[in-house]
Amino acid sequence: MKNIAVFSSGGGSNFKSIHRHIQAGEIPGLIIILISNNSDSDSIKYAKEYNIPTLIINKIRYPNPVAREELLTEALIKKNVDLICLAGYMKLIPQSIVHKYQNRILNIHPALLPQFGGKGFYGIKVHEAVIQSGAEVSGVTVHFVDEDYDHGKIIAQKKIKVRPEDTAITLAEQVLKVEHDLYPKVVKAFC
Ligand code: GAR
Repeated sequence: MKNIAVFSSGGGSNFKSIHRHIQAGEIPGLIIILISNNSDSDSIKYAKEYNIPTLIINKIRYPNPVAREELLTEALIKKNVDLICLAGYMKLIPQSIVHKYQNRILNIHPALLPQFGGKGFYGIKVHEAVIQSGAEVSGVTVHFVDEDYDHGKIIAQKKIKVRPEDTAITLAEQVLKVEHDLYPKVVKAFC
């Protein structure tokens, strides 16, 4: 059983999808902690509902960046975390944690990296850029996290067709469905 820490800032649908696959007995892992910068997020609500321990770390609660980093590191060590899954986490992971957990931090990105990735490409902004570019194909990427945004080694990708009538919103919906299938598969393979 691998101890998994999930980081999620918002809706948390990828977090929920991984959790459901674990509950169904498909992934030999346990979500040992849900970490968020957003105390109002659906991911925090969901974690509480399922008795998954939570940690909220943000600038309001912990203005000192060193204290934030220490708290995060301590939590991961204390929980004996084997794998970190970034699931719609919109903050940068401190370098010290990236180094300590090399090849043990996964991220899901809602496009085919290296296209439409990097600083500023997150959430709906990614889909807006895809639609604006006129690309006929988009997709999902799961990759290891390194020092740069959306840059680490790619583990899995899945393409989807961009339909002529797609908007950023409808594309996001299509991409999310693929994310909910692909991410648990990669987490399972890792475990
Ligand atoms: C997902 O589409 C995820 O790929 C994206 O944010 C969304 C979060 O949805 N992540 C990024 O853009 C990271 N660069 P969720 O909170 O419902 O899982």
